[in-house]
Amino acid sequence: MRSLLFAAFCFAAGCTAQLASVDTYLSTEVPAAKAGLLANIGPSGSKSSGAKAGVIIASPSTSNPDYLYTWTRDAALVFKTLTQLYASSQDATLRTTLDDYVAAQTTLQQVSNPSGTVSTGGLGEPKFNVNLTAFTGAWGRPQRDGPALRATALIQYANWLISNGNTSYVTSKVWPVVKLDLDYTANYWNQSGFDLWEEVNSSSFFTTAAQLRALHEGATLATKLGQTSSASSYNAQIPNVYCFLQSYWNPTDKYVTSNTGGGRSGKDANSIIASIHTFDAAAGCDVTTFQPCSDKALANHKAYVDSFRSIYSINSGFASNAAVATGRYPEDVYYDGNPWYLTTFAAAEQLYDALTVWKSLGALNITSTSLAFFQQFSPSVTTGTYSSSSSTYTSLTSAIRNYADGFLAIAAEYTPSNGALAEQYEKKSGTPLSAADLTWSYAALVTANNARSGYTQASWGASGLTLPGTCVGNSGPTVAVTFNENASTVFGENIYITGSIDALSNWSTGDSLLLSSANYPVWSLTVNIPASTSFEYKYIRINNGSVTWESDPNRSYTTGASGSATIGDTWR
Ligand SMILES: *[C@@H]1O[C@H](CO)[C@@H](O)[C@H](O)[C@H]1NC(C)=O
Ligand SMILES: *[C@@H]1O[C@H](CO)[C@@H](O)[C@H](O)[C@H]1NC(C)=O
Ligand SMILES: *[C@@H]1O[C@H](CO)[C@@H](O)[C@H](O)[C@H]1NC(C)=O
Ligand SMILES: *[C@@H]1O[C@H](CO)[C@@H](O)[C@H](O)[C@H]1NC(C)=O
Ligand SMILES: *[C@@H]1O[C@H](CO)[C@@H](O)[C@H](O)[C@H]1NC(C)=O
Ligand SMILES: *[C@@H]1O[C@H](CO)[C@@H](O)[C@H](O)[C@H]1NC(C)=O
Ligand SMILES: *[C@@H]1O[C@H](CO)[C@@H](O)[C@H](O)[C@H]1NC(C)=O
Ligand SMILES: *[C@@H]1O[C@H](CO)[C@@H](O)[C@H](O)[C@H]1NC(C)=O
Ligand SMILES: *[C@@H]1O[C@H](CO)[C@@H](O)[C@H](O)[C@H]1NC(C)=O
Repeated sequence: MRSLLFAAFCFAAGCTAQLASVDTYLSTEVPAAKAGLLANIGPSGSKSSGAKAGVIIASPSTSNPDYLYTWTRDAALVFKTLTQLYASSQDATLRTTLDDYVAAQTTLQQVSNPSGTVSTGGLGEPKFNVNLTAFTGAWGRPQRDGPALRATALIQYANWLISNGNTSYVTSKVWPVVKLDLDYTANYWNQSGFDLWEEVNSSSFFTTAAQLRALHEGATLATKLGQTSSASSYNAQIPNVYCFLQSYWNPTDKYVTSNTGGGRSGKDANSIIASIHTFDAAAGCDVTTFQPCSDKALANHKAYVDSFRSIYSINSGFASNAAVATGRYPEDVYYDGNPWYLTTFAAAEQLYDALTVWKSLGALNITSTSLAFFQQFSPSVTTGTYSSSSSTYTSLTSAIRNYADGFLAIAAEYTPSNGALAEQYEKKSGTPLSAADLTWSYAALVTANNARSGYTQASWGASGLTLPGTCVGNSGPTVAVTFNENASTVFGENIYITGSIDALSNWSTGDSLLLSSANYPVWSLTVNIPASTSFEYKYIRINNGSVTWESDPNRSYTTGASGSATIGDTWR
């Protein structure tokens, strides 16, 4: 029980020993993880046979469970890791792989699938066959984080390309993919979908956080590329997504309720992964974007970790402030509910990110919200600001670094000697379990290691957001329907339309919509009507307040999934 010893007695001699063991672990595990990750990318990865070029498989496992597919979410998070390695000059050989991914996603976006076509919601499809065809079996769909995560991954590459003088490749190859994903995100962020664990169909903190980031950095990129109408449509949604993000916080119990549905506690690695995915060192400890060192994110970290202390036997005997094995969420029953490598790495990564920001700000704050988190390391500490020259700062940050390392030490203890990372490790024995060689496990180790070294990525603009006073939703995509009514009128008489939906005034005559007579006798009006919606309507004549209805029956129409439509009617 190496980690038990090191973590539990961290304030005594154990800390130095733990640091050495984590350093040793990372010195072999980081190269093993990079190799494991590349083995899972087509066409030439050693464990990804059958995968087309640029296709990132989830795992080579074909049974119990069968993960030989490409998930939009997992692949995007892995691609983000690859661009991190490439852009930070840690691996110059990755360029072809990055371009292959761009090409593969260009193809995949156009593949019709059970969620729809590219223009009717198909971008929300969670997974595809590795030969770039649709997976048509039953599944938890749609999942609305995928397009946002893919956009973020590609924007990161695009920004690198632009700053290296290759805007033309961005405009011709990368932007078209990003635009489709962001258009989808702007249209659908306010609709239910399945969470990142593919189980709960509601709204999900991770998804909303990923959408906010993608839309904001996407609007910035669009502006840079002169795509002004895209920029303004994303900018129109950003305040609403940002506002909605705040609503997941549970102020009584001081943690993020990760899903609005599902009937669980809501304590979930969902929120930890959201925090590291939307980390922006330039935003300091901003609480509204849930930065890793914000008081809410730290309180949430404690609630999340504590929820696993008593439910995994491998965690028993640890002090109540020691790092322990963590999983997805405490109610998990998948494979009987076990710790996962990628969630344990994420628990460490959030704290490394926090340490990086405190160091650059030269201080840390303790508020009533984060007090319990900090008291884990110093029971008598109180709220206040502690500058880096204070002994409290020094002892807290050193304890938090050891605590973060403790999570890696746990994972190290249960990593086999060849460095292979499966999806889970069994809660009683620590034996690797479920899918072998999970690509996301490898990526999570690589990014945690980079965070431990103080590596930060370019800002996505988290500090430049303005929170609106009230949250406005978005009912989703609309179709621009042009109503043309051929009607002869007498002087003083006008043609209006009213109908069964909000956009047509709910059959009101007083609020009915006036058509234009510019092409008399054809009267015209274009109305944005929700996509895939059936409605009834009629035209009316109004002359000095007196209303004349068309004869029965009511007219009816059903909008398509997107685009525009023109209806030609004649007065009756
Ligand atoms: C693609 O892969 C799927 C799943 O393995 C398989 O059923 C299908 O036949 C393949 N299609 C092509 C065109 O290779
Ligand atoms: C721009 O990037 C693409 C993709 O990597 C590459 O094929 C192309 O040669 C680059 N162009 C220039 C001018 O560097
Ligand atoms: C849509 O947004 C509104 C306003 O923020 C919010 O109250 C509602 O829960 C959201 N619904 C979904 C499904 O995201
Ligand atoms: C997910 O939830 C939405 C809204 O509640 C519902 O319309 C949709 O049918 C649900 N999808 C599935 C697969 O249950
Ligand atoms: C601490 O809080 C103060 C007041 O809210 C703020 O100005 C400062 O930026 C915070 N510093 C850190 C390190 O979070
Ligand atoms: C409008 O209706 C009248 C009478 O039915 C018809 O003669 C005329 O061609 C129509 N005009 C247009 C533009 O459809
Ligand atoms: C139509 O009815 C809906 C639901 O009652 C209401 O929210 C909306 O404000 C109404 N719209 C108009 C234009 O009357
Ligand atoms: C319009 O109606 C009002 C009230 O019924 C009436 O006083 C007025 O003369 C009418 N105007 C015309 C131009 O018919
Ligand atoms: C047209 O719709 C209105 C409002 O729903 C309804 O009251 C009326 O009966 C409908 N007319 C016919 C002919 O169905």
